[in-house]
Amino acid sequence: MGPVVAQGFFITFEGGEGGGKSTQTKLLAEALKAKGYDVVLTREPGGAPGAEAIRALLVQGDVSRWDGVTEILLHYAARRDHVAKTVWPAMAAGKVVISDRHADSTMAYQGYGHGIDKAVVREIHHATLGDFKPNLTLILDLSIDAGLKRAMARPDMAKSTAEDRYERMGHEFHERLRQGFLEIAKAEPQRCKVIDAARSIEAIQVDILSATLTALDKATQGKISG
Ligand code: TMP
Repeated sequence: MGPVVAQGFFITFEGGEGGGKSTQTKLLAEALKAKGYDVVLTREPGGAPGAEAIRALLVQGDVSRWDGVTEILLHYAARRDHVAKTVWPAMAAGKVVISDRHADSTMAYQGYGHGIDKAVVREIHHATLGDFKPNLTLILDLSIDAGLKRAMARPDMAKSTAEDRYERMGHEFHERLRQGFLEIAKAEPQRCKVIDAARSIEAIQVDILSATLTALDKATQGKISG
């Protein structure tokens, strides 16, 4: 049996579009599995059947289809479902959960990007999840031009069901949310590590694995079994 982390360990990947999150979450999951960890790889919005159904409402369709607060409530409805059905049970079983996006995305996209009162975002978070936070958050930081170019080159983008609603929101919106992520990281340096995503996949992967093993080591000192 591999290492079991008491109370589990929750890692989130955050950042704007095209930063390579889906590639890097997979690489990290493989690397941790090779070290014997039991890993669950998941995503937001989504990561549980109900949350995946809500995802389609958020990532497709008209840019202005939701009022700002409604959009936050939809993200948090999906998030509560994901955390309650997927994240907490996996953590209770001592697993490492890796999520492609989580709550910092709402603060960055809806708070900083759309300008919804940040206190409202915090209140909704607290009402939905209390003080629950990731153990480690990796923020993949990339210039807006490079990120959107990469995101728009994804294979699904030509389809009518393309998940591109946020990609179509304009350069200034994306600039604001990038600054938002950097401010979030500055306010919580213990939890958040900013990773320069303009480099090669391999170089980014090395930094991510090193930050993760350091955080896992710290969290599991004296608490690991197996
Ligand atoms: P993805 O493209 O990383 O799968 O994420 C879907 C989109 O949803 C992405 O453009 C960011 C956006 N998003 C928010 O605006 N707020 C949130 O809380 C989350 C989780 C995602």
